[in-house]
Amino acid sequence: MESLQRFSFVSFLALLAYFAFLASAELHVREFVIEPKPVKRLCRTHESITVNGQFPGPTLEVRNGDSLAITVINRARYNISIHWHGIRQLRNPWADGPEYITQCPIRPGQSYTYRFTIEDQEGTLWWHAHSRWLRATVYGALIIYPRLGSPYPFSMPKRDIPILLGEWWDRNPMDVLRQAQFTGAAANVSDAYTINGQPGDLYRCSRAETVRFPIFPGETVQLRVINAGMNQELFFSVANHQLTVVETDSAYTKPFTTNVIMIGPGQTTNVLLTANQRPGRYYMAARAYNSANAPFDNTTTTAIFEYVNAPTRRGRGRGQIAPVFPVLPGFNDTATATAFTNRLRYWKRAPVPLQVDENLFFTVGLGLTNCSNPNSPRCQGPNGTRFAASINNQSFVLPRRNSIMQAYYQGMPGIFTTDFPPVPPVQFDYTGNVSRGLWQPVKGTKAYKLKYRANVQIVLQDTSIVTTENHPMHLHGYQFYVVGSGFGNFNPRTDPARFNLYDPPERNTVGTPPGGWVAIRFVADNPGAWIMHCHIDSHLGWGLAMVFLVENGRGQLQSVQAPPLDLPRC
Ligand code: C2O
Repeated sequence: MESLQRFSFVSFLALLAYFAFLASAELHVREFVIEPKPVKRLCRTHESITVNGQFPGPTLEVRNGDSLAITVINRARYNISIHWHGIRQLRNPWADGPEYITQCPIRPGQSYTYRFTIEDQEGTLWWHAHSRWLRATVYGALIIYPRLGSPYPFSMPKRDIPILLGEWWDRNPMDVLRQAQFTGAAANVSDAYTINGQPGDLYRCSRAETVRFPIFPGETVQLRVINAGMNQELFFSVANHQLTVVETDSAYTKPFTTNVIMIGPGQTTNVLLTANQRPGRYYMAARAYNSANAPFDNTTTTAIFEYVNAPTRRGRGRGQIAPVFPVLPGFNDTATATAFTNRLRYWKRAPVPLQVDENLFFTVGLGLTNCSNPNSPRCQGPNGTRFAASINNQSFVLPRRNSIMQAYYQGMPGIFTTDFPPVPPVQFDYTGNVSRGLWQPVKGTKAYKLKYRANVQIVLQDTSIVTTENHPMHLHGYQFYVVGSGFGNFNPRTDPARFNLYDPPERNTVGTPPGGWVAIRFVADNPGAWIMHCHIDSHLGWGLAMVFLVENGRGQLQSVQAPPLDLPRC
């Protein structure tokens, strides 16, 4: 009897703890109304597509373990879908967002509720439109705090500042895309970069709106830097202040200090900054890291750190003293970019898969499609061609009649095939002088099947076709470990011996070194259709993408959930 009582008391305590745990997980119910809103930048006003009239969009702040129910109501004239960049969406591809991959777009006048739970993830992520070029203005931060009472692996400052780096066109970005799609030439480069939506002091009509961050002397703050730009890797730096990197893509790193970070589209980097300089005003600035032989936006965006005790000027020309400007690397400073990324390490020993079941080798790069009439207005690319891009010579085309995930789930044929090649169709000197016969990719909608829980390695090999370039490759539904990288052609005999299988950085987006390769590993434990693509939107549009189809495992807990009833119709 007594032991029974003790038992029930213990189980009562356990139940109590369980309820406390449940109670600490919150459900965040939000509405995202997609609507045009006048936004004035660079002296001119554009009807920008926004979420709830905000540009950048609202910041979502949640905790690990929380659930979200975000109803997207489309009051704009474009189809749209929203992607929660970096959220794993375990067994729940229906909430991932890329149009024609996991859902059909939300049509004007329609709505869709994205329902998902944060499962063992914390740090800085973000959300953005995943429909043509709408993400130019439709994006925002998604910040995941640890569970209540769960510590950070570093001393977390009280103040936490999201820094969203963006790109602004002095035109409707959808028209910029439409023009490029018509002519086959490269899209116009942006007219400005922005920090939290503002170009800063170095652009016309922008000074009054430059973002300013007051800072107390001695204070340490965390900056959550997000590259939400469309097409450009960026260098980011703060005048006279060191940055301590503590996290990339929602994975903690071994802390290290640097004067400058390089951040590709899709990536996030958390840094700590201590206000230990002379009281004053200091610029933070971002400008292009341009690894390609191609035109780019060479302007510089700025915001200002203002010590609250900064001296003011007296007498004539009274007012604030001019901010100090940081030293930024040259536009093509690949050495600095590489030195930075090579310093990244996972914060502890990483559970990297040591055996590999699927050994994939993907060539990644640009291409040109020949035209029968090179003088056509539709063939304004180099020498009367149209730009293209591919992985293993396959230039990805989105289906139109259904999404890949829905077609797969419903067993509807004719939407895609599963014969994506695991290696390039021909071997060649990928980073050498590639013969013209190899410049034209083949179009298709091909997926690659993965068995549930397969250990996957992918070597992403940049090619020199048209130009070598840093391609920020993003995988949906997963975080992966970056186990190695190098310049030139990957050598399968010698390079794997130098892989870091101990503490490689974990990411969801990794850049191929220009004219080089990068190797990643992950366990295919999330069933569904997951797109992997270059996060440079012009390259994505040219076909630099493919899809992994990860099969179900055994039973419900290893299988894709049933789709929600309001999933948009195609
Ligand atoms: Cu942040 Cu498929 O993208």
